[in-house]
Amino acid sequence: MLRYGASRLGSNEVRKGMSSLAEQAIRWCNDQLVLLDQRRLPNEIHFVECTSVQEVNEAIRDMVVRGAPAIGVSAAYGIVLAARQHHAASPGNWRETIEADLQALLQARPTAVNLKWAVTRMRDLMAETGDEDPGPYLLDAAKRIHREDVRANRALGEFGAGLLEAGAEVLTHCNAGALATGGYGTALGVIRSAHAQDKIRNIFVDETRPWFQGARLTAWELTQDRIPVTLICDSAAASLMQQRRLAWVIVGADRIACNGDVANKIGTYSLAVMARQHGVGFMVAAPTSTVDMEASEGARIEIEERSKHEVTEYEGHVLAPAGAKVWNPVFDITPARLVTALVTEKGVVEQPTRRKIRILMEN
Ligand code: MRU
Repeated sequence: MLRYGASRLGSNEVRKGMSSLAEQAIRWCNDQLVLLDQRRLPNEIHFVECTSVQEVNEAIRDMVVRGAPAIGVSAAYGIVLAARQHHAASPGNWRETIEADLQALLQARPTAVNLKWAVTRMRDLMAETGDEDPGPYLLDAAKRIHREDVRANRALGEFGAGLLEAGAEVLTHCNAGALATGGYGTALGVIRSAHAQDKIRNIFVDETRPWFQGARLTAWELTQDRIPVTLICDSAAASLMQQRRLAWVIVGADRIACNGDVANKIGTYSLAVMARQHGVGFMVAAPTSTVDMEASEGARIEIEERSKHEVTEYEGHVLAPAGAKVWNPVFDITPARLVTALVTEKGVVEQPTRRKIRILMEN
């Protein structure tokens, strides 16, 4: 995998004039997919160039790019690269030969349904192409998927902000921002819109062990936009709710079952339980591309487990004894009954149920 533009930056330097960096986390440039390497934030701005679908697959697996919608958008661009490769190698049957690459992409991060959504949508479009090079047609489609995601986030951001009252204190988990999407963000889209309306007094972000998406990515993304943020340890969340009148916990989603159960970053479920205990609203912000109408309930959603080293090490520093076993599920399921509001680009579903979600998706 080629890398370019690497630079070690001190935090002050990063902060200066780079507010749009997170918005450029996924770019199509010179016929390549260029990704901001999220493994290296916040200390290093490093871009990764992907010139083949295999490199896109590797980037998704290794979390160069992460966050359900961002994974879907990247996969769509990856399919453009794959279609070119396969059409050049076997113009007569590239739609068959590409299938192994599509299957490999689907396996890269199995919980994020936007991946399946994007692959299915691109595969359907592949059927519409003729004998000519499918690249340009599919590239237009990938760019459309990218643009639509940003548009959806801006719309749901406004809907979500409408639920907040002035002076609100909120807590968010993981990173559901511009870095995790085509741009603007889902949970952070709501927070951005509410902040622009001067409604938010405090934004708390938890660290989000083990990968530190909250500390490394969300705190970075918000400070880039000069939005003040207060970082807490994951284990401080209950005390925060006990001591302050939080208005909302606002999170994104990796997959939403058709009964309203939500798969999202590990720790989301515990925040939902705590929020219910303390009378705090629990908002899930996600585009409808995150709803999986084939998953009847949360228990049907495959939960990705990742390497034990994510738990036992940080940047090569060993944190635990070698003999310790590790369980590292990276997502959990929050039952629909704990969700106060599901906010999508089509509108808000309060206390989601199977029936309400069906109506939302049919509209
Ligand atoms: O493992 P990650 O970093 O890909 O997990 C990301 C999340 O869980 C996000 O909350 C989710 O994808 C929503 S992003 C808009």
